Amino acid sequence: MTSCIRIKDMPQHVGENVVIKGWMYNKRSSGKIHFLQIRDGSGFVQAVMVKKEVSDDAFEEGKKLWIEASIQITGTVRADERAPSGVELTVTDLQVLHNPDQEYPIGKKDHGVDFLLDNRHLWIRSQRQRAIMIIREHIVWTWRKYLRDRGFLLIDSPILTGAVGEGASGLFELDYFDQTAYLAQTGQLYAEAAAAAYGKVYCFGPTFRAEKSKTRRHLTEFWMLEPEMAFYDHKDCLDLEEDLVRVTVTEVLDGCSKELALLERDTAPLRAITEGPFYRLSYRDAVTRLNQLGSSISFGDDLGAQDETILTQQYDRPVFVECYPKGAKAFYMKENPDDPETVLCADLLAPEGYGEIIGGSQREDDLDKLLARMESDRMDTESYQWYLDLRRYGTFVHSGFGIGLERTVAWICGLHHIREVIPWPRTIYRLNP
Ligand code: 4AD
Ligand code: MG
Repeated sequence: MTSCIRIKDMPQHVGENVVIKGWMYNKRSSGKIHFLQIRDGSGFVQAVMVKKEVSDDAFEEGKKLWIEASIQITGTVRADERAPSGVELTVTDLQVLHNPDQEYPIGKKDHGVDFLLDNRHLWIRSQRQRAIMIIREHIVWTWRKYLRDRGFLLIDSPILTGAVGEGASGLFELDYFDQTAYLAQTGQLYAEAAAAAYGKVYCFGPTFRAEKSKTRRHLTEFWMLEPEMAFYDHKDCLDLEEDLVRVTVTEVLDGCSKELALLERDTAPLRAITEGPFYRLSYRDAVTRLNQLGSSISFGDDLGAQDETILTQQYDRPVFVECYPKGAKAFYMKENPDDPETVLCADLLAPEGYGEIIGGSQREDDLDKLLARMESDRMDTESYQWYLDLRRYGTFVHSGFGIGLERTVAWICGLHHIREVIPWPRTIYRLNP
């Protein structure tokens, strides 16, 4: 019996008779030969169907195939140096599993992005989207392995929460029996509790922001990896972030060269970042620099998207902007003892204009200072009593950060907009498919 194999394994079956099941994504025909381009999820291959080598019925069926027909092909694997996969399939039999009766909506012509997003369920079949999803998955595995190898324990945090994580604006609220629940903006507060229990931990999951920002960097649902480390100060945290990002880029360069090539990603800027330390710049110096570059930012403002773009274009490797003013950042960040108007935090900005991919900080471990800050922010301390307990029972120096998966993937892939790097993007105007 001929065995069914996946396209990616075909090079190990040269000369053998095999069966593949997949979809026909393109076809070229002359009177005597059909060239069928087949994909099965694992790869792409050309199947060559010669009229005199198959039954008349099979050849007729081949002629009638529409784009995206699902098929089962039997044939012989041939080595072919010209083929991208190194092999071709000489067809001996064709079985049509489903032949559509209408034209596939996504054609070769340039479609607008809205059309493609409306057809996201079909768009993900393309070679380009597949390359992006493979890189995304590679990054996720790199992250999980990196942390596991360094003794971090995965402690997932809840998606439904009763306490606000980052700030009261941008919250999705929902009825939760007779209470109000929020969709998590971050898992951090729970990761802090887990760090007090297990030392080095992380959570990784979807997070939600009801942000009205219609920019190329914002989604309302995105994935964030959040490591949290007991007894790490601000500087230890930055060192870890830098190492993680460098390893991530190296792993993608090594493991996804085909996908990067398909996306036409210029890898020179990526290789450059593996070759030296990241830049570290205080917020105060960043403001001075930005003013010289024409920005009107002044002390107290958060960096706008435009500021980040201009700033990162000055550097060939990622840059940390450290110690933002208190008012621009979340309540849990530790006051900077050397400059108490600021906090011990850093954003990591990716080069080539990409901007913030990481936000992190040392956490306020002093109960009184934390309470004072929460009160000045008019927060309801009642729902944070459990969080304050971490400062009551063995408070500890600790730090952590959140790295956005989609922003990292978009940067490494060299894509303009992050909506292409998540399978099912959610933005203000998009809830479907
Ligand atoms: O800077 P943020 O808001 O930090 C936190 O949520 C902290 N609690 C993390 C921590 O310390 N554990 O978000 C962290 C990162 C950003 O740098 C960005 O990469 C990503 O999450 N991010 C978004 N990605 C896509 N769309 C959005 N609307 C995003 N908001 C943040
Ligand atoms: Mg941030």
